[in-house]
Amino acid sequence: MSQVFQHDVLIIGSGAAGLSLALQLADHCSVAVLSKSTLDDGSTRWAQGGIAAVLDTDDSVESHVQDTLIAGADLCDEDAVRFTVENSKKSIDWLISQGVPFTPNDETDSDQPYHLTREGGHSHRRIIHAADATGLAVSDTLIAQALHKSNLEIFTNRMAVDLITRRKLDAEGHGCVGAYVLNCETEHVDVFKARFVILATGGASKVYLYTSNPDGSSGDGIAMAWRAGCRVANMEFNQFHPTCLYHPQAKSFLITEALRGEGAHLLLPDGKRFMHHFDERQELAPRDVVARAIDHEMKRLGSDCVYLDISHKPADFIKGHFPTVYERCLEYGIDITKDPIPVVPAAHYTCGGIVVDTKGRTDTPNLYAIGEASFTGLHGANRMASNSLLECLVYAESAAQDILSKLDSVPEPPYVPDWDESQVTDSDEDVVIAHNWDELRRFMWDYVGIVRTNKRLQRAKHRIDMLNNEISEYYSNYKISGDLIELRNLSVVADLIIRSALMRKESRGLHYTLDYPKLSTEPRNTVLTPDQW
Ligand code: FAD
Ligand code: SIN
Repeated sequence: MSQVFQHDVLIIGSGAAGLSLALQLADHCSVAVLSKSTLDDGSTRWAQGGIAAVLDTDDSVESHVQDTLIAGADLCDEDAVRFTVENSKKSIDWLISQGVPFTPNDETDSDQPYHLTREGGHSHRRIIHAADATGLAVSDTLIAQALHKSNLEIFTNRMAVDLITRRKLDAEGHGCVGAYVLNCETEHVDVFKARFVILATGGASKVYLYTSNPDGSSGDGIAMAWRAGCRVANMEFNQFHPTCLYHPQAKSFLITEALRGEGAHLLLPDGKRFMHHFDERQELAPRDVVARAIDHEMKRLGSDCVYLDISHKPADFIKGHFPTVYERCLEYGIDITKDPIPVVPAAHYTCGGIVVDTKGRTDTPNLYAIGEASFTGLHGANRMASNSLLECLVYAESAAQDILSKLDSVPEPPYVPDWDESQVTDSDEDVVIAHNWDELRRFMWDYVGIVRTNKRLQRAKHRIDMLNNEISEYYSNYKISGDLIELRNLSVVADLIIRSALMRKESRGLHYTLDYPKLSTEPRNTVLTPDQW
């Protein structure tokens, strides 16, 4: 039997963004948090390097702002950058108050209580971290806090299918009033009604064959918002992390940029360094530069990977700062205190997303988007390392303030009909879903990857149009499943990425095309509006 749930606030997603918001609201109103599998299934848990914030007395807001603007290749929204950076210390203080065990500073003569590391693009040490497992520490802490809140109801194994808007219901007024949600255990679609709905669904890097992300990064929130009429921006800027472990048995394991921050060198198979040929900042150039350099060298040499070497540092230092990377590599027979690590770039972060303002508000009233699913303008054409968790925290706080200020003025949601399954049957051809998943992710990698051309993008557009038709037909005729929902969303997101990439007639930040290798003199966001397509 399908069920109907009603709360003041429905938060779709239990990563850093969703849980931070939930914790700030739950003392004031009823909150539901959904996760599509376990509570810690998003990217947050896997974050390694840390969180960028202005914490050191030698550092400044201005310096963090300038570094972010430079990494973003003239496409950041400076107001959004300033807003985020100015609130960075407050967000870290909040996390500390929740109990996140950040790594202490081992320098006894310093005023700074926590160790700060460095990553690409940052001109100061400003990354606060919990060894090399910052996301795990944040996730564990927030989950522990959330489990103690009486006004906060947590629903795991619940996959939001689509948003419910007054427009879709033909009800009076405008705005979002809830979501249809698949209970992955009972296979029923329930109705979740709420006065405020928040998409905190993470990114879409699963659209690529090779990714550092967990399986659920299928861009569900971006696709749902698009179908609900919200604008989406800068989807062509998918970030490729330069260094994921290259090993046949290692699925999506990241080698944190903090290794380069602490002095690791990138090497060709013959042991020679190469980054000085590409950028004077060498291994600490922003990610787009490093990933492109590695891609170039791998293609030039026909090699499967390059190498990252930190073995010149003392073994105790390596094991102390990078215990997760050390242990994980050892499982594959690589002792990073002695051996270079084989690495390749992989899709890592969705810089574009649902257009929001500084309070996380989308184009649809009472619908918010925070975290990786959103487009705030912070990242421009290339996100600087460790600015992402920061964005989750800062926008969770500002969205919470906005929702609290409106709690009494937004009416109860109207009647919502049950999900209609009367026209569909059980699928007898699940192979279609598996095949399309593979095909989509492979052509996205081959044709819409680190280096693009018009021809490759046109090929990808042709294929995504065919797949979209097939998937829509399948969706209309068969009962939904988790895999089908994700495939449908991936195909929407892939289409948005390809269209945006085709529209950008220049190379900027993460979007590099051989047909337009130069930077345009007028930096512009690529903003797509659903009604125009
Ligand atoms: P996520 O943490 O991805 O959570 C998404 C949530 O949404 C999940 O709970 C999921 O179940 C839920 N969800 C999604 N779709 C649905 C649906 N249809 N229905 C119901 N629920 C749904 N950033 C940094 O700043 N510093 C780092 O050191 C860092 N390291 C990283 C390392 C790795 C390996 C990866 C993958 C990312 C890293 N990042 C880092 C990026 C950062 O971790 C993410 O951008 C951030 O955690 C995203 O948080 P989020 O709350 O937006 O989404
Ligand atoms: C890393 O640790 O290299 C990831 C940092 C990030 O994605 O911000």
